[in-house]
Amino acid sequence: MERILIPGAEEILVGHGLPEPLLPPSDRERVLVLTQPGARPIALTVAEAIDGVAVEIFELPDREAAKSLETVTRIYGRLMELALSRHDTIVAVGGGTVTDVAGFVAATWLRGVEVVHVPTTLLAAVDAAIGGKTGVNFRGKNLVGAFWHPSRVVVDLDVLEALPPDLTREGTAEALKAGLIGDPGLVEAYRSRGAGVELGFTVTRAIRVKARVVEEDFRETGRRAILNYGHTVGHAVETLTGLPHGHAIAIGMVAAGEISRRRHGFDADDQRLLLERLGLPVSVGDAALRLSKEAVVAEILKDKKRDAGGIRFVLLRRVAEPVVAHVSDDELEAALAAIDVA
Ligand SMILES: NC(=O)c1ccc[n+]([C@@H]2O[C@H](COP(=O)([O-])OP(=O)(O)OC[C@H]3O[C@@H](n4cnc5c(N)ncnc54)[C@H](O)[C@@H]3O)[C@@H](O)[C@H]2O)c1
Ligand SMILES: [Zn+2]
Repeated sequence: MERILIPGAEEILVGHGLPEPLLPPSDRERVLVLTQPGARPIALTVAEAIDGVAVEIFELPDREAAKSLETVTRIYGRLMELALSRHDTIVAVGGGTVTDVAGFVAATWLRGVEVVHVPTTLLAAVDAAIGGKTGVNFRGKNLVGAFWHPSRVVVDLDVLEALPPDLTREGTAEALKAGLIGDPGLVEAYRSRGAGVELGFTVTRAIRVKARVVEEDFRETGRRAILNYGHTVGHAVETLTGLPHGHAIAIGMVAAGEISRRRHGFDADDQRLLLERLGLPVSVGDAALRLSKEAVVAEILKDKKRDAGGIRFVLLRRVAEPVVAHVSDDELEAALAAIDVA
């Protein structure tokens, strides 16, 4: 089992099967396991692996429907009935929607209880479950949330290896993003072996990139923003089309790559080929969708990635050399043209 530590924050365990004990030692008496339909069998295994305390499973609605204040209220109700106290624990077993909601509930219930994440999608394992950002959707994506570290993140490679190909592809977009912003070796592995790279390798490498960035900047005052590579346009595309997050981010990386090419000579063609090779969409047309420039720009302006200076993008000078910069209207237009949005 590989152990990655974010000092003062979380411990991440990556391996085949579950660690023993599954939860960090404590005097807890109760555990509420939050899960979702696709992860229910794994939640049962996790619940069985937790010894000596009362364990209950609570199932959330599938996908983004879970990330609502209404769901949060329902969970608070159950926590009240269970009398889940300050020294008890919430365990998230599922994709990023479950870890986001569980983290938010844990951050706010009694002003903060322990949360442990067992991510069951690749996207959650390399991204959502790591780094303590939690949130739910309110009128816009992730507009309500808190920073709250899990005490432990357990990544079971057996679970990830059994994922349906679609979910693997989605997570691969975020793993590749991690490589692009911080690990040339990971990008090289995808370049030479495509989707055939060993999962244990990509997962640990991608988590290490995120852990390093989070350690440097826990509250996203500065450097942590680089994790949003591809997300300025990606989030807008996701909201407007309902495309899965990873696919929308792949398209967003093409847009950011185009501005990076114009400004810094970044090899955007290579990035595009890499995405295609991994079976990810590289334009809105690829996903058999149409979007207007006006709609995308309006959506970007609603998002958090802007300030007084304008819309902020994460750009790449080259692989592993990210910069955060304001972009001009012309650059934005070129970025959107690159993904078939005119
Ligand atoms: N907090 C962060 O830093 C952060 C970072 C990236 C993404 N996110 C969030 O993560 C969410 C996306 O995460 P996601 O892609 O994991 O989505 P998700 O939680 O909706 O899961 C996707 C689908 O996979 C199913 N599923 C889960 N585990 C499975 C398994 N082992 N086998 C088969 N099916 C399974 C689920 O039931 C669901 O239908 C978004 O809401 C995004 O905002 C958060
Ligand atoms: Zn993302």
